[in-house]
Amino acid sequence: MLAVMIRFVASVTLFVSFAALSLPAQPFVSLPDSQAPAKRPDAPQLAPYVPTPQDVVDRMLALADVKKGELVVDLGCGDGRIPITAARKYGARGFGVDIDPQRIAEANANAKAAKVEHLVTFSLQDAMKTDVSKANVVTTYLLSASNLKLRPILTKQLAPGARIVAHSFSFGDWTPDKVDSFTDVEGRTRTLYLYIADGKVRQ
Ligand SMILES: C[S@@+](CC[C@H](N)C(=O)[O-])C[C@H]1O[C@@H](n2cnc3c(N)ncnc32)[C@H](O)[C@@H]1O
Repeated sequence: MLAVMIRFVASVTLFVSFAALSLPAQPFVSLPDSQAPAKRPDAPQLAPYVPTPQDVVDRMLALADVKKGELVVDLGCGDGRIPITAARKYGARGFGVDIDPQRIAEANANAKAAKVEHLVTFSLQDAMKTDVSKANVVTTYLLSASNLKLRPILTKQLAPGARIVAHSFSFGDWTPDKVDSFTDVEGRTRTLYLYIADGKVRQ
């Protein structure tokens, strides 16, 4: 009987360990939809929620050449992974806005788990009404039409030298300073666009 029990415990342990090994690493929490309060009805939907994979986040921040103490603002921040990574890897300050309260709750939980709460802040607000004048870096993963709506706001507010890194969707006929096309760890082609503000307002 004892031998049977030992064999059972051993096989359960082996199964659990194997299952854990085969799970993909997921450092960011996501809360079930049923717990989510309604989105802000007063704000335009600039993009659906699709998180940027972590390797692409790393590449976005490298393209932006983020430095310690700089302010990185993610417009439509989802679970906060871009500002949190900027804080964790570079010691940058981060600010993220989203119109979905569930995403803001996740971002706050993720900042706590990453121990960067002192460096990052998240706010339930419309990207179109967000003050980015103090940002050194702005990141977006929004639809092209949304980037075009934001373009006059960003180019008016950002100080010359501030960088914008856009994932997948460009800012229309504004020629990027750099384009980074690569294959991500899942084998998908990704394109990132780097724009450097020059003080010229672009409609
Ligand atoms: C494609 S996801 C990108 C999430 C995150 N930036 C990332 O790259 O992992 C776009 C996000 O923008 C948010 N969003 C849509 N419209 C918005 C608005 N008007 N203001 C702020 N956030 C918005 C969505 O709720 C969603 O979380």
